[in-house]
Amino acid sequence: MTKKSIDDLRSQRWYGPNNMRGMSARARSRQMGFGPEDINNKPRIGIINTWSDMNTCHSHFKDRAEEIKRGVYQSGGFPIELPAMSLGEILVKPSTMLYRNFLAMEAEELIRCHPIDGVVLMGGCDKTTPALLMAALSMNIPAIYMPAGPMLRGYFAGETLGSGTDVLRYWADHRAGLIDDEKLENVVGGMSRSAGTCMVMGTAATMMAIAEVLGMTIPGASSIPAADTSHSLMAASCGRRIVDMVWEDLKPRDIMTEAAFDNATIVDMAMGGSTNAMIHLIAIAGRANIKLNLDRFDKISKRTPVLANIKPSGDFLMEDFYYAGGLRGLMNRLGEHLDLSQINVTGKTLGDAVKDQPVYLDQVIKTLDNPVYPEGGTAILRGNLAPNGCVIKQTAADPKFHKHRGKAVVFKDYTELNLRIDDPNLDVDENSILVLQNAGPIGAPGMPEWGMLPIPKKLLEKGIRDMVRISDCRMSGTAYGTCILHVAPEAAVGGPLGLVKDGDFILLDIASRTLNLEVSDEELDERRENWQPPVYPATRGYTALYGKHVTQADQGADFDFMHAGDETPEPLIF
Ligand code: FES
Repeated sequence: MTKKSIDDLRSQRWYGPNNMRGMSARARSRQMGFGPEDINNKPRIGIINTWSDMNTCHSHFKDRAEEIKRGVYQSGGFPIELPAMSLGEILVKPSTMLYRNFLAMEAEELIRCHPIDGVVLMGGCDKTTPALLMAALSMNIPAIYMPAGPMLRGYFAGETLGSGTDVLRYWADHRAGLIDDEKLENVVGGMSRSAGTCMVMGTAATMMAIAEVLGMTIPGASSIPAADTSHSLMAASCGRRIVDMVWEDLKPRDIMTEAAFDNATIVDMAMGGSTNAMIHLIAIAGRANIKLNLDRFDKISKRTPVLANIKPSGDFLMEDFYYAGGLRGLMNRLGEHLDLSQINVTGKTLGDAVKDQPVYLDQVIKTLDNPVYPEGGTAILRGNLAPNGCVIKQTAADPKFHKHRGKAVVFKDYTELNLRIDDPNLDVDENSILVLQNAGPIGAPGMPEWGMLPIPKKLLEKGIRDMVRISDCRMSGTAYGTCILHVAPEAAVGGPLGLVKDGDFILLDIASRTLNLEVSDEELDERRENWQPPVYPATRGYTALYGKHVTQADQGADFDFMHAGDETPEPLIF
Protein backbone atom coordinates (compact mmCIF):
# COMPACT_ATOMS: atom_id res chain seq x y z
CA MET A 1 0.00 0.00 0.00
CA THR A 2 1.35 3.45 -0.95
CA LYS A 3 1.56 5.80 1.99
CA LYS A 4 0.97 9.44 1.09
CA SER A 5 3.12 12.19 2.50
CA ILE A 6 1.90 15.64 3.47
CA ASP A 7 3.21 17.12 0.22
CA ASP A 8 1.02 14.68 -1.76
CA LEU A 9 -2.17 15.90 -0.14
CA ARG A 10 -4.75 17.62 -2.29
CA SER A 11 -5.33 20.37 0.27
CA GLN A 12 -1.67 21.40 0.04
CA ARG A 13 -2.41 22.82 -3.40
CA TRP A 14 -4.47 25.47 -1.60
CA TYR A 15 -2.50 25.93 1.65
CA GLY A 16 1.02 24.84 0.77
CA PRO A 17 2.40 27.24 -1.85
CA ASN A 18 4.59 30.01 -0.65
CA ASN A 19 2.73 32.61 -2.65
CA MET A 20 -0.08 35.11 -2.16
CA ARG A 21 -2.83 32.46 -2.55
CA GLY A 22 -1.26 30.14 0.02
CA MET A 23 -0.75 33.03 2.41
CA SER A 24 -4.36 34.09 1.95
CA ALA A 25 -5.69 30.56 2.62
CA ARG A 26 -3.61 30.27 5.79
CA ALA A 27 -4.73 33.72 6.94
CA ARG A 28 -8.36 32.71 6.56
CA SER A 29 -7.77 29.68 8.81
CA ARG A 30 -6.57 32.14 11.44
CA GLN A 31 -9.78 34.11 10.88
CA MET A 32 -11.68 30.98 12.04
CA GLY A 33 -9.48 30.68 15.10
CA PHE A 34 -7.18 27.92 13.83
CA GLY A 35 -3.40 28.33 13.85
CA PRO A 36 -0.52 26.27 12.45
CA GLU A 37 -0.72 23.73 15.28
CA ASP A 38 -4.33 23.00 14.25
CA ILE A 39 -3.86 22.60 10.54
CA ASN A 40 -0.23 22.13 9.54
CA ASN A 41 0.66 18.63 8.32
CA LYS A 42 -2.92 17.44 8.82
CA PRO A 43 -5.31 16.03 6.22
CA ARG A 44 -8.39 18.20 5.84
CA ILE A 45 -11.51 16.07 6.10
CA GLY A 46 -14.76 17.33 4.62
CA ILE A 47 -17.95 16.30 6.40
CA ILE A 48 -20.85 16.65 3.97
CA ASN A 49 -23.85 17.03 6.23
CA THR A 50 -27.37 16.61 4.83
CA TRP A 51 -28.92 17.97 8.03
CA SER A 52 -31.78 20.47 7.94
CA ASP A 53 -34.94 21.13 9.90
CA MET A 54 -36.78 19.85 6.81
CA ASN A 55 -35.18 16.42 6.99
CA THR A 56 -36.83 14.75 9.96
CA CYS A 57 -34.79 11.58 9.48
CA HIS A 58 -31.48 13.45 9.91
CA SER A 59 -32.38 15.38 13.07
CA HIS A 60 -29.44 13.76 14.92
CA PHE A 61 -26.89 14.87 12.31
CA LYS A 62 -25.74 17.97 14.21
CA ASP A 63 -24.60 15.67 17.03
CA ARG A 64 -23.17 13.10 14.65
CA ALA A 65 -21.14 15.75 12.80
CA GLU A 66 -19.51 16.69 16.12
CA GLU A 67 -18.81 13.02 16.82
CA ILE A 68 -17.22 12.58 13.40
CA LYS A 69 -15.07 15.65 14.11
CA ARG A 70 -14.00 14.08 17.41
CA GLY A 71 -12.79 11.03 15.49
CA VAL A 72 -11.00 13.15 12.89
CA TYR A 73 -9.11 15.03 15.62
CA GLN A 74 -8.25 11.75 17.37
CA SER A 75 -6.57 10.51 14.21
CA GLY A 76 -4.66 13.72 13.56
CA GLY A 77 -6.88 15.26 10.89
CA PHE A 78 -8.65 18.59 10.63
CA PRO A 79 -12.45 18.43 10.05
CA ILE A 80 -14.42 20.87 7.91
CA GLU A 81 -18.22 20.62 7.87
CA LEU A 82 -19.97 21.38 4.59
CA PRO A 83 -23.79 21.57 4.48
CA ALA A 84 -25.61 20.11 1.47
CA MET A 85 -29.21 19.82 0.34
CA SER A 86 -30.94 17.58 2.86
CA LEU A 87 -33.70 15.97 0.72
CA GLY A 88 -36.16 15.01 3.46
CA GLU A 89 -38.38 12.46 1.78
CA ILE A 90 -41.67 13.52 3.28
CA LEU A 91 -41.54 17.27 2.78
CA VAL A 92 -39.73 17.79 -0.54
CA LYS A 93 -42.16 18.16 -3.46
CA PRO A 94 -42.87 17.12 -6.12
CA SER A 95 -40.38 14.35 -5.37
CA THR A 96 -36.92 13.95 -3.88
CA MET A 97 -36.09 11.92 -6.98
CA LEU A 98 -36.21 15.13 -8.98
CA TYR A 99 -33.35 16.33 -6.79
CA ARG A 100 -31.24 13.17 -6.36
CA ASN A 101 -29.07 14.24 -9.27
CA PHE A 102 -28.97 17.78 -7.89
CA LEU A 103 -27.52 16.56 -4.57
CA ALA A 104 -25.13 14.25 -6.43
CA MET A 105 -23.81 17.22 -8.40
CA GLU A 106 -23.76 19.48 -5.36
CA ALA A 107 -21.78 16.99 -3.28
CA GLU A 108 -19.37 16.39 -6.15
CA GLU A 109 -18.74 20.09 -6.59
CA LEU A 110 -18.43 20.65 -2.83
CA ILE A 111 -15.67 18.09 -2.77
CA ARG A 112 -14.10 19.36 -5.96
CA CYS A 113 -13.87 23.05 -5.20
CA HIS A 114 -12.72 22.85 -1.57
CA PRO A 115 -9.31 22.00 -0.08
CA ILE A 116 -10.21 18.61 1.35
CA ASP A 117 -8.29 15.34 1.23
CA GLY A 118 -11.01 12.94 2.29
CA VAL A 119 -14.70 13.14 3.00
CA VAL A 120 -17.34 11.68 5.31
CA LEU A 121 -20.73 11.60 3.61
CA MET A 122 -23.69 11.83 5.99
CA GLY A 123 -26.89 10.45 4.50
CA GLY A 124 -29.74 8.02 5.03
CA CYS A 125 -33.12 9.39 3.98
CA ASP A 126 -33.89 7.75 0.64
CA LYS A 127 -32.16 9.71 -2.15
CA THR A 128 -29.32 11.06 -0.04
CA THR A 129 -27.45 7.73 -0.07
CA PRO A 130 -27.35 7.17 -3.84
CA ALA A 131 -26.64 10.85 -4.46
CA LEU A 132 -23.66 10.86 -2.10
CA LEU A 133 -22.25 7.61 -3.49
CA MET A 134 -22.62 8.96 -7.04
CA ALA A 135 -20.62 12.02 -6.01
CA ALA A 136 -18.00 9.89 -4.28
CA LEU A 137 -17.38 7.86 -7.43
CA SER A 138 -17.29 10.90 -9.67
CA MET A 139 -14.72 12.72 -7.52
CA ASN A 140 -12.90 9.59 -6.36
CA ILE A 141 -11.07 10.96 -3.33
CA PRO A 142 -11.05 8.88 -0.09
CA ALA A 143 -14.61 8.74 1.27
CA ILE A 144 -16.67 7.02 3.96
CA TYR A 145 -20.43 7.00 4.04
CA MET A 146 -22.03 7.45 7.49
CA PRO A 147 -25.58 6.04 7.48
CA ALA A 148 -28.28 7.81 9.52
CA GLY A 149 -29.61 4.48 10.81
CA PRO A 150 -33.25 3.51 11.20
CA MET A 151 -35.53 5.05 13.81
CA LEU A 152 -36.93 2.99 16.68
CA ARG A 153 -39.99 0.77 16.19
CA GLY A 154 -43.38 2.49 16.06
CA TYR A 155 -45.99 1.47 18.65
CA PHE A 156 -49.74 1.84 18.91
CA ALA A 157 -52.12 -0.03 21.21
CA GLY A 158 -49.74 -2.94 21.78
CA GLU A 159 -48.92 -3.30 18.09
CA THR A 160 -45.62 -2.41 16.43
CA LEU A 161 -45.94 0.03 13.54
CA GLY A 162 -43.73 0.32 10.48
CA SER A 163 -43.10 3.67 8.77
CA GLY A 164 -45.02 4.04 5.56
CA THR A 165 -46.24 0.44 5.48
CA ASP A 166 -48.63 0.87 8.41
CA VAL A 167 -49.42 4.51 7.53
CA LEU A 168 -50.70 3.22 4.20
CA ARG A 169 -52.60 0.35 5.85
CA TYR A 170 -54.29 2.55 8.45
CA TRP A 171 -55.05 5.21 5.85
CA ALA A 172 -56.81 2.59 3.71
CA ASP A 173 -58.81 1.51 6.79
CA HIS A 174 -59.73 5.14 7.43
CA ARG A 175 -60.88 5.64 3.83
CA ALA A 176 -62.96 2.48 4.13
CA GLY A 177 -64.61 3.91 7.26
CA LEU A 178 -63.14 1.25 9.56
CA ILE A 179 -61.32 3.66 11.90
CA ASP A 180 -62.18 7.21 12.97
CA ASP A 181 -60.10 10.40 13.03
CA GLU A 182 -59.17 10.00 16.69
CA LYS A 183 -57.73 6.52 16.22
CA LEU A 184 -55.86 7.69 13.14
CA GLU A 185 -54.32 10.55 15.13
CA ASN A 186 -53.18 8.09 17.79
CA VAL A 187 -51.49 6.03 15.09
CA VAL A 188 -49.76 9.24 13.93
CA GLY A 189 -48.53 9.80 17.50
CA GLY A 190 -46.94 6.35 17.79
CA MET A 191 -45.44 6.08 14.36
CA SER A 192 -42.13 7.99 14.47
CA ARG A 193 -40.49 7.65 17.88
CA SER A 194 -36.92 8.83 17.34
CA ALA A 195 -34.44 10.34 14.93
CA GLY A 196 -33.52 8.10 12.03
CA THR A 197 -34.90 6.81 8.78
CA CYS A 198 -38.03 4.78 8.08
CA MET A 199 -37.60 1.53 10.00
CA VAL A 200 -39.07 -0.93 7.53
CA MET A 201 -37.03 -2.33 4.62
CA GLY A 202 -37.87 0.76 2.58
CA THR A 203 -35.58 2.64 0.28
CA ALA A 204 -33.57 4.21 3.10
CA ALA A 205 -32.80 0.92 4.88
CA THR A 206 -32.15 -0.77 1.55
CA MET A 207 -29.75 1.89 0.31
CA MET A 208 -27.89 2.21 3.62
CA ALA A 209 -27.35 -1.55 3.56
CA ILE A 210 -26.27 -1.40 -0.07
CA ALA A 211 -23.70 1.28 0.83
CA GLU A 212 -22.31 -1.13 3.42
CA VAL A 213 -22.21 -4.08 1.00
CA LEU A 214 -20.49 -1.88 -1.57
CA GLY A 215 -17.83 -1.37 1.08
CA MET A 216 -18.41 2.31 1.80
CA THR A 217 -19.29 2.12 5.53
CA ILE A 218 -17.60 0.95 8.67
CA PRO A 219 -18.63 -2.75 8.88
CA GLY A 220 -21.96 -3.16 10.67
CA ALA A 221 -22.80 0.55 10.48
CA SER A 222 -25.97 0.41 8.41
CA SER A 223 -28.01 -1.68 10.85
CA ILE A 224 -27.41 0.42 13.99
CA PRO A 225 -30.59 2.27 15.07
CA ALA A 226 -30.08 6.04 14.98
CA ALA A 227 -30.93 6.41 18.68
CA ASP A 228 -28.51 3.71 19.88
CA THR A 229 -25.33 4.89 21.59
CA SER A 230 -23.40 2.64 19.22
CA HIS A 231 -24.45 5.01 16.47
CA SER A 232 -22.45 7.84 18.07
CA LEU A 233 -19.45 5.55 18.43
CA MET A 234 -19.78 4.53 14.79
CA ALA A 235 -19.80 8.21 13.76
CA ALA A 236 -16.55 8.83 15.67
CA SER A 237 -14.98 5.76 14.08
CA CYS A 238 -15.84 7.18 10.61
CA GLY A 239 -13.85 10.27 11.59
CA ARG A 240 -10.87 8.21 12.74
CA ARG A 241 -10.83 5.92 9.75
CA ILE A 242 -11.13 8.53 7.00
CA VAL A 243 -7.86 10.14 8.11
CA ASP A 244 -6.07 6.81 7.71
CA MET A 245 -7.73 6.31 4.33
CA VAL A 246 -6.25 9.59 3.14
CA TRP A 247 -2.72 8.44 4.06
CA GLU A 248 -3.43 5.04 2.46
CA ASP A 249 -4.98 6.70 -0.63
CA LEU A 250 -7.90 4.23 -0.50
CA LYS A 251 -10.53 5.61 -2.88
CA PRO A 252 -14.15 4.79 -3.87
CA ARG A 253 -13.20 3.32 -7.26
CA ASP A 254 -10.85 0.90 -5.46
CA ILE A 255 -13.79 -0.27 -3.33
CA MET A 256 -16.96 -0.06 -5.46
CA THR A 257 -16.01 -2.59 -8.13
CA GLU A 258 -18.25 -4.46 -10.55
CA ALA A 259 -18.18 -7.50 -8.21
CA ALA A 260 -19.16 -5.25 -5.30
CA PHE A 261 -22.24 -4.12 -7.27
CA ASP A 262 -23.19 -7.77 -7.81
CA ASN A 263 -22.79 -8.33 -4.06
CA ALA A 264 -25.04 -5.33 -3.43
CA THR A 265 -27.70 -6.71 -5.76
CA ILE A 266 -27.56 -10.14 -4.10
CA VAL A 267 -27.99 -8.61 -0.65
CA ASP A 268 -30.76 -6.33 -1.90
CA MET A 269 -32.65 -9.39 -3.17
CA ALA A 270 -32.04 -11.30 0.07
CA MET A 271 -33.35 -8.35 2.08
CA GLY A 272 -36.53 -7.99 0.02
CA GLY A 273 -35.20 -4.48 -0.60
CA SER A 274 -36.89 -1.52 -2.22
CA THR A 275 -37.57 -1.57 -5.96
CA ASN A 276 -35.91 1.86 -6.03
CA ALA A 277 -32.58 0.11 -5.52
CA MET A 278 -32.59 -0.95 -9.17
CA ILE A 279 -32.57 2.63 -10.43
CA HIS A 280 -30.06 3.83 -7.85
CA LEU A 281 -27.62 0.95 -8.37
CA ILE A 282 -27.54 1.59 -12.12
CA ALA A 283 -26.97 5.31 -11.53
CA ILE A 284 -24.23 4.80 -8.92
CA ALA A 285 -22.38 2.19 -10.98
CA GLY A 286 -22.64 4.41 -14.04
CA ARG A 287 -20.49 7.01 -12.31
CA ALA A 288 -17.64 4.46 -12.37
CA ASN A 289 -18.29 3.36 -15.95
CA ILE A 290 -19.79 0.10 -14.71
CA LYS A 291 -22.77 -0.85 -16.84
CA LEU A 292 -25.53 -2.62 -14.95
CA ASN A 293 -28.81 -3.59 -16.54
CA LEU A 294 -32.16 -4.98 -15.47
CA ASP A 295 -31.53 -8.47 -16.85
CA ARG A 296 -28.47 -8.79 -14.63
CA PHE A 297 -30.65 -7.97 -11.61
CA ASP A 298 -33.24 -10.53 -12.65
CA LYS A 299 -30.64 -13.28 -13.05
CA ILE A 300 -29.45 -12.59 -9.51
CA SER A 301 -33.03 -12.40 -8.24
CA LYS A 302 -33.84 -15.88 -9.60
CA ARG A 303 -31.01 -17.49 -7.61
CA THR A 304 -31.20 -15.48 -4.35
CA PRO A 305 -33.75 -16.27 -1.64
CA VAL A 306 -35.22 -13.58 0.63
CA LEU A 307 -33.85 -14.12 4.15
CA ALA A 308 -34.79 -10.87 5.92
CA ASN A 309 -38.27 -11.17 7.42
CA ILE A 310 -38.82 -7.41 7.51
CA LYS A 311 -41.86 -5.33 6.54
CA PRO A 312 -43.21 -4.68 3.95
CA SER A 313 -42.30 -8.17 2.67
CA GLY A 314 -42.16 -9.74 6.15
CA ASP A 315 -43.16 -9.31 9.79
CA PHE A 316 -40.42 -7.43 11.67
CA LEU A 317 -38.72 -4.03 11.69
CA MET A 318 -35.15 -2.78 11.31
CA GLU A 319 -34.61 -2.58 15.07
CA ASP A 320 -35.37 -6.32 15.24
CA PHE A 321 -32.97 -6.85 12.32
CA TYR A 322 -30.19 -5.20 14.35
CA TYR A 323 -30.83 -7.39 17.40
CA ALA A 324 -30.98 -10.46 15.15
CA GLY A 325 -27.43 -9.89 13.90
CA GLY A 326 -28.00 -7.14 11.35
CA LEU A 327 -26.64 -6.95 7.86
CA ARG A 328 -23.42 -8.76 8.75
CA GLY A 329 -25.46 -11.66 10.10
CA LEU A 330 -27.47 -11.79 6.91
CA MET A 331 -24.32 -11.65 4.75
CA ASN A 332 -22.72 -14.37 6.84
CA ARG A 333 -25.76 -16.50 6.12
CA LEU A 334 -25.58 -15.74 2.39
CA GLY A 335 -21.96 -16.95 2.49
CA GLU A 336 -20.98 -18.39 -0.86
CA HIS A 337 -23.62 -16.37 -2.72
CA LEU A 338 -21.29 -13.38 -2.20
CA ASP A 339 -17.82 -12.53 -3.44
CA LEU A 340 -16.27 -12.17 0.01
CA SER A 341 -12.91 -11.05 -1.39
CA GLN A 342 -14.19 -7.52 -2.06
CA ILE A 343 -12.71 -4.84 0.18
CA ASN A 344 -14.37 -2.11 2.23
CA VAL A 345 -13.27 1.20 3.75
CA THR A 346 -11.19 -0.65 6.34
CA GLY A 347 -8.99 -2.02 3.54
CA LYS A 348 -9.98 -5.52 4.68
CA THR A 349 -12.36 -7.90 2.94
CA LEU A 350 -16.10 -8.39 3.21
CA GLY A 351 -15.29 -11.90 4.40
CA ASP A 352 -13.32 -10.44 7.33
CA ALA A 353 -16.26 -8.18 8.16
CA VAL A 354 -18.91 -10.89 8.33
CA LYS A 355 -17.14 -14.08 9.34
CA ASP A 356 -17.69 -13.85 13.10
CA GLN A 357 -21.19 -12.38 13.06
CA PRO A 358 -23.82 -14.90 14.23
CA VAL A 359 -27.56 -14.66 13.64
CA TYR A 360 -29.38 -14.57 16.98
CA LEU A 361 -33.02 -14.67 15.83
CA ASP A 362 -33.83 -17.11 13.03
CA GLN A 363 -37.37 -15.80 12.73
CA VAL A 364 -35.98 -12.37 11.71
CA ILE A 365 -33.07 -13.51 9.51
CA LYS A 366 -34.14 -16.82 8.05
CA THR A 367 -31.90 -19.66 6.91
CA LEU A 368 -31.11 -20.52 3.30
CA ASP A 369 -33.16 -23.70 3.53
CA ASN A 370 -36.15 -21.98 5.14
CA PRO A 371 -36.30 -18.57 3.44
CA VAL A 372 -39.08 -15.98 3.49
CA TYR A 373 -39.34 -16.42 -0.28
CA PRO A 374 -37.44 -18.80 -2.57
CA GLU A 375 -36.19 -16.09 -4.91
CA GLY A 376 -35.32 -12.40 -4.72
CA GLY A 377 -37.75 -9.69 -3.67
CA THR A 378 -37.70 -7.79 -6.98
CA ALA A 379 -38.55 -9.31 -10.36
CA ILE A 380 -37.94 -7.69 -13.75
CA LEU A 381 -40.70 -7.95 -16.33
CA ARG A 382 -40.70 -7.25 -20.06
CA GLY A 383 -43.25 -7.40 -22.84
CA ASN A 384 -44.93 -5.17 -25.38
CA LEU A 385 -46.10 -2.90 -22.55
CA ALA A 386 -42.57 -2.45 -21.17
CA PRO A 387 -40.05 -3.18 -23.97
CA ASN A 388 -37.16 -1.83 -21.89
CA GLY A 389 -38.34 -3.43 -18.67
CA CYS A 390 -40.19 -2.67 -15.47
CA VAL A 391 -40.04 -3.96 -11.89
CA ILE A 392 -42.33 -5.53 -9.32
CA LYS A 393 -41.74 -6.32 -5.68
CA GLN A 394 -43.14 -9.82 -5.90
CA THR A 395 -42.80 -10.48 -2.18
CA ALA A 396 -45.14 -7.57 -1.39
CA ALA A 397 -47.79 -8.61 -3.96
CA ASP A 398 -50.81 -10.80 -3.26
CA PRO A 399 -49.86 -14.24 -4.70
CA LYS A 400 -53.28 -14.53 -6.39
CA PHE A 401 -52.15 -11.73 -8.75
CA HIS A 402 -48.82 -13.30 -9.71
CA LYS A 403 -50.58 -14.44 -12.86
CA HIS A 404 -53.46 -12.18 -13.75
CA ARG A 405 -55.40 -10.96 -16.78
CA GLY A 406 -57.59 -7.92 -16.36
CA LYS A 407 -59.20 -4.95 -18.03
CA ALA A 408 -57.34 -1.63 -17.90
CA VAL A 409 -58.77 1.39 -16.12
CA VAL A 410 -56.58 4.23 -17.35
CA PHE A 411 -55.69 7.55 -15.75
CA LYS A 412 -53.82 9.90 -18.06
CA ASP A 413 -51.96 11.58 -15.19
CA TYR A 414 -51.84 11.89 -11.41
CA THR A 415 -54.31 14.78 -11.32
CA GLU A 416 -56.91 12.74 -13.17
CA LEU A 417 -56.22 9.77 -10.90
CA ASN A 418 -57.00 11.84 -7.82
CA LEU A 419 -60.12 13.34 -9.40
CA ARG A 420 -61.64 10.04 -10.53
CA ILE A 421 -60.40 7.23 -8.30
CA ASP A 422 -63.21 7.52 -5.76
CA ASP A 423 -65.95 8.34 -8.29
CA PRO A 424 -68.79 5.90 -7.54
CA ASN A 425 -69.41 5.63 -11.30
CA LEU A 426 -65.84 4.53 -12.09
CA ASP A 427 -66.10 1.35 -14.17
CA VAL A 428 -63.81 -0.82 -12.03
CA ASP A 429 -63.89 -4.08 -10.11
CA GLU A 430 -61.36 -6.09 -8.12
CA ASN A 431 -60.01 -7.78 -11.26
CA SER A 432 -59.41 -4.54 -13.12
CA ILE A 433 -55.86 -3.30 -13.68
CA LEU A 434 -55.28 0.33 -12.74
CA VAL A 435 -52.94 2.14 -15.16
CA LEU A 436 -51.31 5.49 -14.43
CA GLN A 437 -49.67 7.27 -17.39
CA ASN A 438 -47.29 10.24 -17.55
CA ALA A 439 -45.75 9.84 -14.10
CA GLY A 440 -42.19 8.90 -15.11
CA PRO A 441 -38.91 10.84 -15.09
CA ILE A 442 -40.14 13.28 -17.79
CA GLY A 443 -43.89 12.87 -17.40
CA ALA A 444 -44.29 13.87 -13.74
CA PRO A 445 -41.46 15.13 -13.88
CA GLY A 446 -39.13 13.51 -11.36
CA MET A 447 -40.69 10.03 -11.21
CA PRO A 448 -42.48 10.42 -7.87
CA GLU A 449 -43.60 7.59 -5.59
CA TRP A 450 -47.18 7.45 -6.87
CA GLY A 451 -46.96 3.82 -8.01
CA MET A 452 -49.02 2.33 -5.17
CA LEU A 453 -52.17 3.71 -6.78
CA PRO A 454 -54.99 4.00 -4.24
CA ILE A 455 -57.64 1.30 -4.31
CA PRO A 456 -60.97 2.88 -5.38
CA LYS A 457 -63.06 3.68 -2.30
CA LYS A 458 -66.00 1.56 -3.41
CA LEU A 459 -63.69 -1.49 -3.54
CA LEU A 460 -62.03 -0.62 -0.21
CA GLU A 461 -65.49 -0.68 1.35
CA LYS A 462 -65.92 -4.22 0.00
CA GLY A 463 -62.70 -5.25 1.76
CA ILE A 464 -60.42 -5.18 -1.32
CA ARG A 465 -56.86 -4.29 -0.29
CA ASP A 466 -54.79 -5.20 -3.36
CA MET A 467 -55.17 -4.89 -7.12
CA VAL A 468 -52.77 -4.97 -10.05
CA ARG A 469 -51.46 -1.48 -10.71
CA ILE A 470 -49.10 -0.34 -13.47
CA SER A 471 -47.22 2.94 -13.88
CA ASP A 472 -44.01 4.53 -15.08
CA CYS A 473 -43.31 6.07 -11.69
CA ARG A 474 -41.83 4.55 -8.53
CA MET A 475 -43.35 3.51 -5.24
CA SER A 476 -42.05 4.01 -1.74
CA GLY A 477 -39.94 1.12 -0.53
CA THR A 478 -42.26 1.05 2.46
CA ALA A 479 -45.29 0.38 0.24
CA TYR A 480 -46.83 -2.94 -0.75
CA GLY A 481 -49.25 -4.47 -3.21
CA THR A 482 -49.15 -5.76 -6.78
CA CYS A 483 -47.59 -2.61 -8.21
CA ILE A 484 -45.68 -2.75 -11.48
CA LEU A 485 -43.31 0.18 -11.61
CA HIS A 486 -40.64 2.00 -13.66
CA VAL A 487 -42.21 1.01 -16.99
CA ALA A 488 -39.69 1.96 -19.68
CA PRO A 489 -39.85 3.73 -21.96
CA GLU A 490 -42.26 5.94 -20.04
CA ALA A 491 -45.55 7.19 -21.47
CA ALA A 492 -44.40 10.80 -21.85
CA VAL A 493 -41.64 9.90 -24.32
CA GLY A 494 -43.89 7.68 -26.44
CA GLY A 495 -43.69 4.39 -24.54
CA PRO A 496 -46.53 1.89 -25.09
CA LEU A 497 -47.88 2.63 -21.61
CA GLY A 498 -49.17 5.92 -23.04
CA LEU A 499 -51.17 4.04 -25.68
CA VAL A 500 -53.26 1.93 -23.27
CA LYS A 501 -57.00 2.65 -23.30
CA ASP A 502 -59.83 1.81 -20.93
CA GLY A 503 -61.02 -1.74 -21.48
CA ASP A 504 -57.78 -3.09 -23.05
CA PHE A 505 -56.78 -6.45 -21.61
CA ILE A 506 -53.39 -6.77 -19.93
CA LEU A 507 -51.71 -10.05 -18.97
CA LEU A 508 -49.23 -10.18 -16.09
CA ASP A 509 -47.22 -13.35 -15.46
CA ILE A 510 -44.45 -12.96 -12.90
CA ALA A 511 -43.20 -16.55 -13.30
CA SER A 512 -42.51 -15.97 -17.00
CA ARG A 513 -41.42 -12.36 -16.28
CA THR A 514 -43.89 -10.92 -18.81
CA LEU A 515 -46.26 -7.98 -19.02
CA ASN A 516 -48.26 -7.73 -22.22
CA LEU A 517 -50.98 -5.54 -23.61
CA GLU A 518 -53.40 -7.65 -25.65
CA VAL A 519 -53.74 -5.16 -28.49
CA SER A 520 -52.50 -5.87 -32.02
CA ASP A 521 -49.38 -4.19 -33.40
CA GLU A 522 -51.49 -2.58 -36.14
CA GLU A 523 -53.84 -1.05 -33.59
CA LEU A 524 -50.89 0.18 -31.49
CA ASP A 525 -49.28 1.75 -34.59
CA GLU A 526 -52.51 3.60 -35.32
CA ARG A 527 -52.74 4.86 -31.74
CA ARG A 528 -49.10 5.93 -31.90
CA GLU A 529 -49.78 8.08 -34.95
CA ASN A 530 -52.44 9.99 -33.04
CA TRP A 531 -50.38 10.27 -29.84
CA GLN A 532 -49.26 13.71 -28.62
CA PRO A 533 -46.58 14.16 -25.94
CA PRO A 534 -47.67 16.06 -22.82
CA VAL A 535 -46.36 19.60 -22.38
CA TYR A 536 -43.28 19.65 -20.12
CA PRO A 537 -44.03 21.99 -17.21
CA ALA A 538 -40.75 23.95 -16.99
CA THR A 539 -38.83 26.12 -19.43
CA ARG A 540 -36.32 27.53 -16.97
CA GLY A 541 -34.35 26.60 -13.86
CA TYR A 542 -33.25 23.21 -12.62
CA THR A 543 -36.45 21.44 -13.69
CA ALA A 544 -35.87 22.52 -17.30
CA LEU A 545 -32.30 21.14 -17.16
CA TYR A 546 -33.68 17.92 -15.67
CA GLY A 547 -36.20 17.50 -18.49
CA LYS A 548 -33.50 17.90 -21.14
CA HIS A 549 -31.00 15.47 -19.67
CA VAL A 550 -32.60 12.83 -17.42
CA THR A 551 -32.37 9.26 -18.71
CA GLN A 552 -35.08 6.60 -18.45
CA ALA A 553 -35.56 4.38 -15.39
CA ASP A 554 -33.76 1.37 -16.92
CA GLN A 555 -30.70 3.61 -17.38
CA GLY A 556 -30.71 4.91 -13.81
CA ALA A 557 -32.48 8.26 -14.36
CA ASP A 558 -29.14 10.02 -14.02
CA PHE A 559 -28.24 12.95 -16.26
CA ASP A 560 -26.86 11.83 -19.59
CA PHE A 561 -23.86 14.14 -19.16
CA MET A 562 -23.03 12.74 -15.69
CA HIS A 563 -23.60 9.03 -16.25
CA ALA A 564 -20.22 7.51 -17.04
CA GLY A 565 -16.98 9.20 -17.85
CA ASP A 566 -13.71 9.70 -16.06
CA GLU A 567 -13.14 11.15 -12.63
CA THR A 568 -14.07 14.82 -12.35
CA PRO A 569 -10.94 16.90 -13.04
CA GLU A 570 -9.36 18.92 -10.27
CA PRO A 571 -9.96 22.68 -10.34
CA LEU A 572 -7.26 25.01 -11.56
CA ILE A 573 -5.49 26.79 -8.72
CA PHE A 574 -3.07 29.64 -9.32
FE1 FES B 1 -36.68 9.64 5.51
FE2 FES B 1 -38.38 7.49 5.00
S1 FES B 1 -38.84 9.61 5.20
S2 FES B 1 -36.24 7.56 5.27
